[in-house]
Amino acid sequence: MATLLCNKIQHFHFTLIFLIQLSLLQFISSSYTIPNKYFINCGSNNNVTEPETNHVFVAESYSEASFSSRSKIYTNQSFVPSPLYKTARIFTQTHSWYGFNIETTGTYMLRLHFLAFASSTSNLSSAKFNVSVPNFWLLRNFDARNYTNMALVKEFLLHIPIGNFKITFTPLLQSFAFVNAIEFFILPLHFISDNVAIFSYGTNRGLTTYPSTTMQAQMLETIHRINVGGENVTRGIDNLWRNWLSDDGYLLNRENAKNSTPYNSSIKYHVGDDSKGPYSNKFIAPNAVYQTAKQIISNSSNLNITWSFPVDKDTDHFIRLHFCDIWSSNIGLAYFSLYIYDNYVIEINKNIDGDVLAPLHSPYYYDYVVHSDNSGVMKISVGPDKTAKEISAFLNGVEIMKLSNSSDSVPLDGEHKHKYNHLAVVIGAVLGGFVLVCVVVVGFLWRLKTRKQKAVENSDWLPIHVTALGSSHCRLTEGSPHPNINLGLKISLIDIQFATNNFDAKEIIGKGGFGNVYKGVLKNGMKVAAKRSEPGSGQGLPEFQTEIMVLSKIRHRHLVSLIGYCDERNEMILVYEYMEKGTVRDHLYNTNSPTLSWMQRLEICIGAARGLHYLHKGASGGIIHRDVKSSNILLDENYVAKVADFGLSKTGPLDDNQSYISTGVKGTFGYLDPEYFMSQQLTEKSDVYSFGVVLLEVLCARSAIDPLLPRDQANLAEWGILCKNKGILEDIIDPSINGQINPNSLRKFSETFEKCLQEDGCDRPTMSDVLWDLEYVLQLQRGAVHREPHEDSSSSTSASLLLHNARLLPSLSALSEVDDMSIVKADESDSAAD
Ligand SMILES: *[C@@H]1O[C@H](CO)[C@@H](O)[C@H](O)[C@H]1NC(C)=O
Ligand SMILES: *[C@@H]1O[C@H](CO)[C@@H](O)[C@H](O)[C@H]1NC(C)=O
Ligand SMILES: *[C@@H]1O[C@H](CO)[C@@H](O)[C@H](O)[C@H]1NC(C)=O
Ligand SMILES: *[C@@H]1O[C@H](CO)[C@@H](O)[C@H](O)[C@H]1NC(C)=O
Repeated sequence: MATLLCNKIQHFHFTLIFLIQLSLLQFISSSYTIPNKYFINCGSNNNVTEPETNHVFVAESYSEASFSSRSKIYTNQSFVPSPLYKTARIFTQTHSWYGFNIETTGTYMLRLHFLAFASSTSNLSSAKFNVSVPNFWLLRNFDARNYTNMALVKEFLLHIPIGNFKITFTPLLQSFAFVNAIEFFILPLHFISDNVAIFSYGTNRGLTTYPSTTMQAQMLETIHRINVGGENVTRGIDNLWRNWLSDDGYLLNRENAKNSTPYNSSIKYHVGDDSKGPYSNKFIAPNAVYQTAKQIISNSSNLNITWSFPVDKDTDHFIRLHFCDIWSSNIGLAYFSLYIYDNYVIEINKNIDGDVLAPLHSPYYYDYVVHSDNSGVMKISVGPDKTAKEISAFLNGVEIMKLSNSSDSVPLDGEHKHKYNHLAVVIGAVLGGFVLVCVVVVGFLWRLKTRKQKAVENSDWLPIHVTALGSSHCRLTEGSPHPNINLGLKISLIDIQFATNNFDAKEIIGKGGFGNVYKGVLKNGMKVAAKRSEPGSGQGLPEFQTEIMVLSKIRHRHLVSLIGYCDERNEMILVYEYMEKGTVRDHLYNTNSPTLSWMQRLEICIGAARGLHYLHKGASGGIIHRDVKSSNILLDENYVAKVADFGLSKTGPLDDNQSYISTGVKGTFGYLDPEYFMSQQLTEKSDVYSFGVVLLEVLCARSAIDPLLPRDQANLAEWGILCKNKGILEDIIDPSINGQINPNSLRKFSETFEKCLQEDGCDRPTMSDVLWDLEYVLQLQRGAVHREPHEDSSSSTSASLLLHNARLLPSLSALSEVDDMSIVKADESDSAAD
């Protein structure tokens, strides 16, 4: 507890220091220097200077990182390759960790050093353990036996948001874990570009763009870093302390290649904006890498040089290729072709970056994401182009990193799930613009309700008031009433004011009951949306806290990420990733935005369904959104759908009836589950209902409630079901997509929304079923599914028959990840329906 308190106070200090001296512009490569945080000499009370880099690795006790207290120090007397390996920290308990405070969102380099030394007292070579960080495995079933004489350095690149970050060490049964040294620091801005090309080979050969959000959601693990045509480049020479190995061991056709004469002058790094590449800077690769290359020997244009690098089979890899022309007599004369797996990729050394020619002696690089084939190697070749004036082909450097997706199996660093907190707010507050309609209908429904509603009870959620920066940090230690508020996500008001041009009205991109949403750019260049509560109103505070609590725990491609929050001076501000294309509603009606095609709409629905499914059943599980609607589904620059606005969501264990007994009904009228409204029992199926309304909205491009329409048409859910039953659904489809929809796809889609909109929650499918159905709708639309003749009948059960077997799979796997009886129940109701 004492350490924790201490850390919070430290955090306060560093936030201040960070504000004063650390303009984020520093991370742009021209002004970047490797930060001092964190270089840790694990298991030691002494600082040690690494001779190679001349850098100090700080004793644990002086380090700003924290670590599990129940661990041991271990020292080594024998000879080691570097003083870093003289000590180690040993973990014997599960969920042991090192903790770090991330003060800047960005891409971080993480290196772990292991050397399994032995001495008279113990022997590290019997260590067996797993290492993980949130969402990713770093090492699995690691066995230290093979690293007794030689150190193992594992290197990872991770995009990490502001907040606390833990590296978790989990010993395998009857064993222990250890680590000798940790390097963990932020990389220059744009070190990994936002727009990496994907190279596909074979029949789909071509280049497409890898979305930046997907890139950031993955972890890169360095597999190869090669100085082609030269000697090993050691840590001390590299500007980010990387090791580059010589390429000779990977060369397939030695007879075609020779090492170029090393270039002895300094490389001319491009001056100016290098944010988009392809121009290199000294952090991308050092002089030593560009000064040497492998070159083609003969000037026969049929030859090529090929390297073959061992990689994992059937896995996405990030490949960075370094080039620098130091031999041609003039620019543009010696161009040549790059091949990956013998498939032509592009022309090198001709036009780069549009039509600019690569200046001589100016280094540049190309990044590709390539999916490895089943050969177990990545094959890269360069070969001359017959049309070039000077026959040439060369390569200066290669880096290959494995891309890992986040994994649900990673333990949540020992934290337990959120405690269920009562939240209640009077319903009128959330109904927004529909007050008039609501009063009438609410009054009607009110009478139907059997139970009495308690007005407001909110004792668990006392507001956190922070008047001066950090003053609350010391209070909010372990055991405080807000264990789920993630302090590490704090952003100072000053930074937000800077980002939004002091809440300039021109930056407003949205408004809601809580206040305005501003577009902004943080000092590190990241585009964000800042949601600011009406200053001083205090209204919506529980929503803000719920949102921080929910969003700081979960990351998913289809859920909007929280970058941070601010609660200074009566301000409550939430900062999210900026969603370029706005809300789904903005693309459906009352809008000037271009309309979406049916395929786009389907993909958006599938994305949102995935996000909701993850909320319900994913890692943190059991979260009910409670306010699913088209204006809470946002689109990024690639129209990838992300569910947003978790202010009303409910988390925590369900009671025996698999539902939350709520003391206040919340949600948005028109999307509100009637069953929930009447019984006040909240289940995941309420989200399913609201999602059904969204499906109709997407199909018909009209609002969920339109009070100007005749009574039977005003409520979209009712009207949609009515039209479907009458067989006149086509009449209400958005005219702009009416011609695009395959009839089978439409039929399956309408079955799907109909099932979602069932009055009785248990008759509604789970989100996982909805997801399956929508993917099937998409396949039908693509015409990819061969349909049995009887299925073209309009019978509504035939398609689900076909899918029945397939559907068992996800449900079963879902069963193993959650102890949720409602899944069993849902399957029963499914088969009953069939
Ligand atoms: C450490 O243990 C390994 C086997 O687990 C053994 O081969 C090695 O000799 C031991 N080293 C020492 C110094 O005892
Ligand atoms: C140790 O190395 C050998 C030879 O490279 C390999 O076959 C073996 O699987 C490795 N053992 C472990 C535990 O990694
Ligand atoms: C270690 O990782 C493996 C592979 O992910 C997993 O099967 C195993 O359960 C983990 N062991 C522990 C003790 O967490
Ligand atoms: C490179 O040359 C080898 C033979 O030397 C050939 O098998 C391979 O297909 C060539 N690759 C390319 C990309 O031309």
